[in-house]
Amino acid sequence: MDRNADAPWSKFDPEAYVDVNYRTPLDVDLLILRAMRDHFSRCFRDSAPQSVQGIDVGAGANMYPALAMLPWCEKIVLLEYAQPNVEYLERQTVDGGLDATWNAFWDVLLEDPAYRDVKPAGRVSEIVRVERGNLFDLDGPQRYDLGTMFFVADSMSECPDEFRRGVRCFMNTLSKGAPFAAAFMKESVGYQVGDQHFPAYRVNEERARESLAAYTDDLEIHDLHQVVRKGHEGMLLVLGRRNSAVALP
Ligand SMILES: C[S@@+](CC[C@H](N)C(=O)[O-])C[C@H]1O[C@@H](n2cnc3c(N)ncnc32)[C@H](O)[C@@H]1O
Repeated sequence: MDRNADAPWSKFDPEAYVDVNYRTPLDVDLLILRAMRDHFSRCFRDSAPQSVQGIDVGAGANMYPALAMLPWCEKIVLLEYAQPNVEYLERQTVDGGLDATWNAFWDVLLEDPAYRDVKPAGRVSEIVRVERGNLFDLDGPQRYDLGTMFFVADSMSECPDEFRRGVRCFMNTLSKGAPFAAAFMKESVGYQVGDQHFPAYRVNEERARESLAAYTDDLEIHDLHQVVRKGHEGMLLVLGRRNSAVALP
């Protein structure tokens, strides 16, 4: 069984990954983005803008979770383990670096008035910071008020324990009341990026619910029956707010 430490993360090719997944936006990502946008907007309706610390865990070569958090955050951390992805994210977050690939995703966010006064390119370079780190080490004192984890706990190992630990570590980094969004490939048997194979754990709605239910009182699991490649059976989007249950790493 392939564990997280066995996978070739140093050979992850972010441009090949973006070509397949994001260069031309997939309908399912736009559906996910709309639901996440509406969830965050609802949760922050009454809070002061830009006072929030956000985190995207295992950000990889995907800027849309960070874009979705922009209106409310004074700081966003993109935590990523694979060095090529860290470098990709650093290029996206320098002044003028945000690639045109992300415009179509921003256009979807703009349908919500909360995003209309935000200039994404400038704001990303002002408040988004890339940190190289391991999800399993998220046990420091820092807690975040808003968090995302897209295709990470399910797409980093074949091992059930590592999936549950990944979810727990993500939950561990969120403060009480923090809205969050997480996405999983449903029943994935692994995936290819360029010529490298990466492991996955076969998550379904029941397994997602089991791993998350203790940490949120208002869990929503959206089963999106859209298959984007061979070797999985759709995608799961999970939305909620962190409760006060303790999640030990
Ligand atoms: C399938 S990609 C998802 C990337 C991105 N979040 C997205 O939505 O497309 C899985 C990501 O998890 C990262 N990852 C794998 N193991 C990790 C770990 N132990 N800690 C943090 N990130 C990790 C990988 O480097 C990769 O960027």
